[in-house]
Amino acid sequence: MNPNAVYQKCIHADCGATCDVGDVHVACPVCGELLDVVYDWSKLPVPARLADFAARWAGRANPLDFSGVWRFRELLNFCDDRCRVTLGEGQTLLTPNAGVGRYVGLKDGGLFLQYEGLNPSGSFKDNGMTAAFSHARLVGARRVACASTGNTSASLALYAAHAGMQSIVFVGSGRIAFGKLAQALDYGARTLQIAGDFDACMRRVKEAAKRLGLYLMNSVNPFRLEGQKTIMLRVLEALAWQAPDWIVVPGGNLGNSSAFGKAFGELKELGLIDRVPRLAVINAAGADTLDRLVNQKKLRWNGGQYDKAALAEDWAWQDRTHRLPHTIASAIEIARPVNAAKCLRALSICDGVVRSVSDAEILDAKAQVGRCGLGCEPASAASVAGARRLVEEGVIDRDARVVCILTGHALKDPDATVGYHTGRFAPGKEVEGPRNFANLPVQVDDDIDAICRAVGE
Ligand code: F0G
Repeated sequence: MNPNAVYQKCIHADCGATCDVGDVHVACPVCGELLDVVYDWSKLPVPARLADFAARWAGRANPLDFSGVWRFRELLNFCDDRCRVTLGEGQTLLTPNAGVGRYVGLKDGGLFLQYEGLNPSGSFKDNGMTAAFSHARLVGARRVACASTGNTSASLALYAAHAGMQSIVFVGSGRIAFGKLAQALDYGARTLQIAGDFDACMRRVKEAAKRLGLYLMNSVNPFRLEGQKTIMLRVLEALAWQAPDWIVVPGGNLGNSSAFGKAFGELKELGLIDRVPRLAVINAAGADTLDRLVNQKKLRWNGGQYDKAALAEDWAWQDRTHRLPHTIASAIEIARPVNAAKCLRALSICDGVVRSVSDAEILDAKAQVGRCGLGCEPASAASVAGARRLVEEGVIDRDARVVCILTGHALKDPDATVGYHTGRFAPGKEVEGPRNFANLPVQVDDDIDAICRAVGE
């Protein structure tokens, strides 16, 4: 047992090895499984009530009180204030949305959207980067790296520019949306376009990190997930600290869902909430590994003794069958989610379910989110499409309170949006199926009569 108030610990119950908070590992040094950040709450200051956090807003001239992540710093208390790197992330809103609620099939007032596109780099990743960069500063890292489907690289590049560190990002050539690539380039990241998909980039960045001593910022980094816990704290705050019935989140590398489960587990352990919401993790049908593992192979957390061999066997089966992920929601085009085991824990804590939805369902749901006054990128809309499916199935009650997490900004992937509305998708990104809410642009001559007719006289 580690004597410190904060330490890292292997999540597999058969190992449970610990190491110091200041160690840099992306896997358990003993058995290779994922690591967690663990707190001995008896040795740390923890507020008696969640409502005490809200008072910080009054002092928001302090950048840490202004940050929607560090406002909750006692619940991710792994470094002191001098290490904390912040860009004012987490100024994100939970809003009820009647139109999307009707589309999903819920009764009035039941549907809420948590819009993480409002973060400095336009996605939820900033919640995690602020935390991982704080750890990077704690350990004196100078060069930071990640593999990415786009948003992680954008966020990492932004925070590295801010923190004065050098950033190196590995992206699948032709596989990330232009909005995201543009950000990595603009923020000055050394951008390696690898001839392969996300899973290949992930493998390579781990090798390169080991060989070159790069600090790895993917969600195998347990400190990143500590920041992502605060998305749930802000949801609770917006609902006057009452847990909703359901949280619905897209699943790619499964960092978010894992962080949400950890947040609720800790809040329950601390007695700060008395009820945990249910969790729905939504895969794209073309990248449905979690759906297969949970619904077909019946893989479970099993008190931390999850079946490691079953995960390895699934990866090997993907190799044998040359199975590659393919979805218009490029952010979640991931076949070997690195946080699969932690996500099983989250599903266990939150009595969770997993579904996958087609690209056509994703794009229709995305168009609804736009038309109902918010907008998001394709992967984010998987949450709305998934909620709709679960209401149809009767898994989510029509009178439930449901929070869908919109993970990224609408402008991240304009090609997918224009493709949907015009029917002209980029080559290799075509989506079959109806486009029920397509809003076709109208071609008009440069003639005032024709223009007035097109507007509608
Ligand atoms: N939504 C968006 C917009 C994302 O960018 C991602 C992941 C997810 C959902 C899935 O979240 O991995 O926590 O399950 N994007 C990563 C990236 C993989 O590299 O930007 P997850």
